[in-house]
Amino acid sequence: MVKPIHSADLAWNEQGYPVACAFDDVYFSNQDGLAETRYVFLNQNQLPQRWYNASFNHFTIAESGFGSGLNFLATWYLFEQLPEEHRPKQINFISFEKFPLEKRDIEQTLAHWGELKPYAEQLIAHYPTILTQGCQRLVFANGRINLDLWFGDIHESLQQIPTSSSGLVDCWYLDGFAPSKNPDMWTQALFDQMASLSRNQATVATFTAAGFVRRGLIDAGFRIEKAPGFGRKREMLHGQIERQSTYSSIPPWFYRHRAEQIDEVAIIGAGLAGASLSYALTKRGIKHHIYESENAAATAASGNRQGAIYPLLNAEQSTLSEFFISAFTYLNQIIQRLRAKGHYIASEQCGVLHLGYNEKSAKKLAKTAQAQWPEALIKPISAEQASNIAGLPLEHAGLFYPQGLWATPADVVQAMLYEAVSSGYGNVHYQHLLTHWQPLADGKIELHFANQSSKKVSQLVVCNGYQITQIPAFEKLPITPVRGQVTHLKSTEPLNNLQTVLCYDGYLTPAHHQIHCIGATYQRLQVERQLANEDSRQNLQALQDCIDQSWTHQIAIDESLGRAAVRATVRDHLPLMGPVANIDALIREYPPLNTHKSRESAPQLPLLKNVYTLSGLGARGVTSAPLLGELLACELTGEAAPVSQAILDALHPARFWVRRLLRGQPATRS
Ligand SMILES: Cc1cc2nc3c(=O)[nH]c(=O)nc-3n(C[C@H](O)[C@H](O)[C@H](O)COP(=O)(O)OP(=O)(O)OC[C@H]3O[C@@H](n4cnc5c(N)ncnc54)[C@H](O)[C@@H]3O)c2cc1C
Ligand SMILES: C[S@@+](CC[C@H](N)C(=O)[O-])C[C@H]1O[C@@H](n2cnc3c(N)ncnc32)[C@H](O)[C@@H]1O
Repeated sequence: MVKPIHSADLAWNEQGYPVACAFDDVYFSNQDGLAETRYVFLNQNQLPQRWYNASFNHFTIAESGFGSGLNFLATWYLFEQLPEEHRPKQINFISFEKFPLEKRDIEQTLAHWGELKPYAEQLIAHYPTILTQGCQRLVFANGRINLDLWFGDIHESLQQIPTSSSGLVDCWYLDGFAPSKNPDMWTQALFDQMASLSRNQATVATFTAAGFVRRGLIDAGFRIEKAPGFGRKREMLHGQIERQSTYSSIPPWFYRHRAEQIDEVAIIGAGLAGASLSYALTKRGIKHHIYESENAAATAASGNRQGAIYPLLNAEQSTLSEFFISAFTYLNQIIQRLRAKGHYIASEQCGVLHLGYNEKSAKKLAKTAQAQWPEALIKPISAEQASNIAGLPLEHAGLFYPQGLWATPADVVQAMLYEAVSSGYGNVHYQHLLTHWQPLADGKIELHFANQSSKKVSQLVVCNGYQITQIPAFEKLPITPVRGQVTHLKSTEPLNNLQTVLCYDGYLTPAHHQIHCIGATYQRLQVERQLANEDSRQNLQALQDCIDQSWTHQIAIDESLGRAAVRATVRDHLPLMGPVANIDALIREYPPLNTHKSRESAPQLPLLKNVYTLSGLGARGVTSAPLLGELLACELTGEAAPVSQAILDALHPARFWVRRLLRGQPATRS
């Protein structure tokens, strides 16, 4: 179950600063919080000097306790003051927070520092309103500043955060309330975890000089010195990692690793998956080419008029729910950002309403509601409330996602591709149907297209939906095509009163340019793109069967209006994101993993060198694609990923084969 997160209970002191009631402690010095931050965390970690002397593609700072975000904003401010040649290309700021402040409290706190205002405004605009355990990534300054907010106890989050054996963190801000007031946080386990996640030469600074903190950090492997404290504090601590840890969170059977060298990445497919990866690579200044078989983008699954967007939640599957919550909040943010850049994206945050239209579905919704989700995410509602929200009479109770929305996927694709092409980092090549590919001796990959000359690239990422299994080496990936036909319906009275997306054994959207969508059929193993009249009748029938109201029976459809496309589905409802395993080598050489001993000595999963996929987005791809693109970009560059290791494992393209090995079965059935 995804754990609920309780926001901080605050009082305000005479200076107008927040005080945490549960800890009876302040968030920063009453003398001057910003000056304290700069002195303790920025200067004692020697950030300006370290950035001046070395060129970092990305620099990762981790902080215990986000609080009001003051440390984060002071860091961002410093970054903006420095010339480009003397600062990292990108900052990944990871902050762990057990009791997040509410947005309004952050706003009130940060109002004290006028010089931070332009940054504070952006933080406040994007600060999460859905507070659940897990990570939410906020992207600022065109992707040069990434803020990963990990909600939950820092000990638990550090155990979940993905890290390779070369480490993750370049600099620690060891904040948190005074050790005497928050002893649960200041533990040897925390210091040891910090050391495990430290990259070579990582530094640490903390406002306290408590003896057990000093000794604990030294025991963990840091060299620690004292410095004069800020304000009335006599001393503080700072230091550097001495022993480089070899800890990795990545199980060898779910092996992933950063790309050795990235020259030009090839993306196959210009749907949401390909465009999302292109967008994430563009933010990082990575050159790439998108090869699309058709003569336009978003003509396949990503070409529907309206996609319903909400997180897939399951009270019993915290990994799946956590992934979709992160993906959902990330997508919302990306839509806002693209719009802020002037892109037209048709979408409406009208909420999504799931109806318990029969006993089975009502039970399922009741089960989903069992977990303590925050109301900003999902709330149970009565039939009367449902009718009020929908603007039309409904006979069923259900669950409402107040921040749910519909959006036109093709608009998102076009905006992302525009960003890529106009930046000069992305090139889109239409009418390029990839037929096969070949690894070259130098580690590069040669791509072969129907009727086009071949191309040589450093990485291949296959994002071509259900057609992935038609390409050699990917035939065995666990993707099943499922055709879906959506019916388009002219808006008339009383249907034009519909105010929210209705989900039942199908879905009905509010009108967009006077057209509603009723969707969608679910036809396994069918790939026919032509419209079938029978399917439109089926869509209407499903609506009338589930919602037996006069307004549904008044609907008349023109069976010839609609659209059919094919979903690429995976049976556990999670996409495939990451490196593609060499299935022949896996079958031939990889040992079973069903004993403790075999797992202890397991070799790394054999991978196809420099070959990745982002596919199997199923029926939720509009929701999940942008975060998936970001995750794959993080993997290629070796940056911090904004999801847990458990989520990365659950997205691994080889997971079904590995799970069989873990059960002591051969990797594949045949
Ligand atoms: C009927 C229907 C309703 C849906 N409703 C929703 C919804 O309400 N909410 C939601 O979140 N999701 C929904 N989805 C799912 C979502 O639309 C998809 O998951 C998402 O669009 C998949 O994007 P993609 O880029 O992986 O695939 P696609 O959009 O299919 O893109 C794949 C691209 O690869 C190209 N290609 C294929 N083979 C090759 C090749 N060999 N060489 C070069 N290019 C190639 C194709 O031409 C295509 O452009 C729905 C899907 C369908 C079909
Ligand atoms: C002194 S405040 C941090 C101030 C903050 N860095 C800022 O810039 O405003 C300490 C923070 O640590 C958080 N915290 C305390 N114990 C924690 C724990 N075990 N795990 C994660 N966060 C914790 C508190 O909720 C609080 O927000």
